[in-house]
Amino acid sequence: MMGSEADEMAAAAKVLLEAGFDVIDLNFACPVKKVMGRCRGGYLLNDPDEALKIMRAVRAVVPGPLTMKLRRALDESSQAAENFDRIFNEAVNLDFAAISVHGRTVEQKYTGTADWDFLRNLKARYPHMTLFGSGDVFTAKDALRMVTHTGVDGVWIARGAIGNPWIFREFAALIAGRPALEPPGIFEQRAGLLEHFALAVEIYGEQQASRQMRKIGIKYSRLHTEGADVWRAFIAVKSQADWNAV
Ligand SMILES: Cc1cc2nc3c(=O)[nH]c(=O)nc-3n(C[C@H](O)[C@H](O)[C@H](O)COP(=O)(O)O)c2cc1C
Repeated sequence: MMGSEADEMAAAAKVLLEAGFDVIDLNFACPVKKVMGRCRGGYLLNDPDEALKIMRAVRAVVPGPLTMKLRRALDESSQAAENFDRIFNEAVNLDFAAISVHGRTVEQKYTGTADWDFLRNLKARYPHMTLFGSGDVFTAKDALRMVTHTGVDGVWIARGAIGNPWIFREFAALIAGRPALEPPGIFEQRAGLLEHFALAVEIYGEQQASRQMRKIGIKYSRLHTEGADVWRAFIAVKSQADWNAV
């Protein structure tokens, strides 16, 4: 959930619980301009008083699991680090089930690198808090490296999954100590691409799905042996028939 006002967020949490959701997640991380402009998402890392109000109000109406997504701070200032600590501590005090932290500042957006040392220090400071790490996990090996380096309890795979949904089974094999899996062959890629497009059509309809899936197809093309040709073909997709033809 994203929002800027405690009462509204508590009311929204109730609606979600009544709709049958099992976990409520508060997002104090999103750096998108529109979200920041509305004093939501990552903005709240700069307004810990309001953030704490929201957390307490939501906690008061959510008896079950409550989680939160943070970035490591708003910016590099010592005030921002203090704000992060206040919010993180309150989540621990309010018995949040898990906290996810992206190792970039909000100001960084997606530039530079995610600070995995920050995640390691945080886990060392709060060994009993369930902590999920996020940032720069582009391959299954990266995910394993993050676990090894930081000691986090779970890893977020975000941009690394766009165009490669097989990354999850690859990581599952590595974390279980099994040998690394081969990347999917082109027939499996084809089946995945068809299923992905069908799901997009279900949600958006064919016309909008065709537009939106072009940029996703481009990402998938990185796995293909003739990636450059496939890339060009996906850019030109205007319909389901075009998609199937690629
Ligand atoms: C297209 C896109 C949508 C995202 N949506 C969400 C979201 O709804 N909630 C969330 O907590 N993080 C969201 N994120 C942030 C990711 O969870 C993650 O923290 C961030 O991308 C850094 O990880 P990465 O470097 O491995 O991509 C989104 C990221 C991208 C690229």
